[in-house]
Amino acid sequence: MERIAELTILSPDDKAAAELPRVSADELAIGKKRLYIESYGCQMNFSDSEIVAAVMRNAGFATTSTAEEADVIFLNTCAIRDNAEQKVRNRLVHLNAFKKRKPELVVGVLGCMAERLKTKLLEEEQIVDIVAGPDAYRDMPRLVEEAETGQKAVNVFLSREETYADIAPIRLGSNGVTAFISIMRGCDNMCSFCVVPFTRGRERSRDPHSIVREAEQLFADGYREVTLLGQNVDSYKWLDDSSAARANLRSETAAADRPNPKSPVTFADLLARVASIHPDLRVRFSTSHPKDITDDVLYTMARFDNICNYIHLPAQSGNSRILELMNRTYDREWYLQKIDRIRAILGDDCGISHDMISGFCSETEEEHQDSLSLMEYARFDYGYMFAYSERPGTLAAKKYADDVPEDVKKRRLNEIIALQRDLSLERNQRHLGKVQRVLVEGFSKRSEADLSGRNDQNKIVVFPRGTHKKGDYVNVLVTECSSATLIGTVV
Ligand code: SAH
Ligand code: SF4
Ligand code: F3S
Repeated sequence: MERIAELTILSPDDKAAAELPRVSADELAIGKKRLYIESYGCQMNFSDSEIVAAVMRNAGFATTSTAEEADVIFLNTCAIRDNAEQKVRNRLVHLNAFKKRKPELVVGVLGCMAERLKTKLLEEEQIVDIVAGPDAYRDMPRLVEEAETGQKAVNVFLSREETYADIAPIRLGSNGVTAFISIMRGCDNMCSFCVVPFTRGRERSRDPHSIVREAEQLFADGYREVTLLGQNVDSYKWLDDSSAARANLRSETAAADRPNPKSPVTFADLLARVASIHPDLRVRFSTSHPKDITDDVLYTMARFDNICNYIHLPAQSGNSRILELMNRTYDREWYLQKIDRIRAILGDDCGISHDMISGFCSETEEEHQDSLSLMEYARFDYGYMFAYSERPGTLAAKKYADDVPEDVKKRRLNEIIALQRDLSLERNQRHLGKVQRVLVEGFSKRSEADLSGRNDQNKIVVFPRGTHKKGDYVNVLVTECSSATLIGTVV
């Protein structure tokens, strides 16, 4: 599954980009300006681009899938590792050619890199007209207007409240079956390696009613899976009156006798609310933080068949000293106990994936071995694995030397990747000879004779098409597998 890992979700060569709404003849006839958006980074950025598209549509812009025909180009950027930023800088160089041909073209850099670099980006990249941080998207039409007068336009204010709860996203590059719903923004965790708290600001949760409404609308529109998104979904928290009423119902004590009659809507509550919309609406979520995921969440997952049996639980390291330097606030034992809890409550079949960083400051060979042994213990189904990249301004950049040589980081990363490949294969082999319920997302990448979808554990399953189509649930008997894919036939 495409996830938080740094990946280009709507890169120019991405097939999904081809599914972006094209400008209709009507829109062209009435002279609407055309907006092209390209998204980099995590699912949250992808989801934000859909908010931006909605804001711009409301301001009278049409969206287009081809950069060449655009009047306004936005790059929604990622700053998580240095190479994520390099990718954007290379793209800007490429866009220079467009601007030479069409000098009135407006180029905006949005998202995390914009927030990190602020006006410095204008100095470093001549082609950029607009710099807009993740909380400035309501302001995009005004920023474009300002840029059209030939001035540079900047809004990098971070908010403590903005959740865009009232904006109905325009689903870009959608398969019409699966969608993301942002349930919170920002992060208060301050892991020492991470720029996200600086680029996305303070953590805030979105009104649960607006989340449930969005999920209901998606279901009514034919979507069959929603992924609830946040940097740390387990710290989701919302105080509202209906939760107070519910708390009163639960409690024997009269509301007046209680010190705080309001009990918040927790992530477990929210999951249950979304899962109750319809048994055919699958629910996924990402990301869980090992320090915060509760038994309550695990029991809620066990209670609802339509909450997928899959948890993304980033580890970052398997060594307690490194975890402490990373400021992750848990140690190896805590992480392993969480794995045990998941297996105890949800069974051995629950899919678990992780994030791992190789070569963090001062990591020794032995400590690297601890990451490998943690992976062996957890038997992860999947992993997103990275070499440490120092980010300016972070705690780690200020306090610790980035002293593991590049080639050592790379070698350790390769060992982590190789082990994960073995573990993924082993975990996939468990499904051989078993029937999986698969939600069809579209044709397989290789051939239109085959369909592709995912099972409960988030694994890609490919099978001959038959009479089935996108959005169907089908039962597939798994007959073959690789470390990446399950292959089977409909039963
Ligand atoms: N909120 C999520 C992570 C979001 S960032 C969590 O806490 O788990 C996605 C992943 O990028 C992280 O889990 C981490 O593995 C990786 N990452 C973040 N900063 C990094 C850095 N400076 N160098 C390398 N990888 C990094
Ligand atoms: Fe970054 Fe840590 Fe927040 Fe995840 S929890 S976004 S790694 S600071
Ligand atoms: Fe996501 Fe990259 Fe920002 S991972 S939160 S887009 S820094």
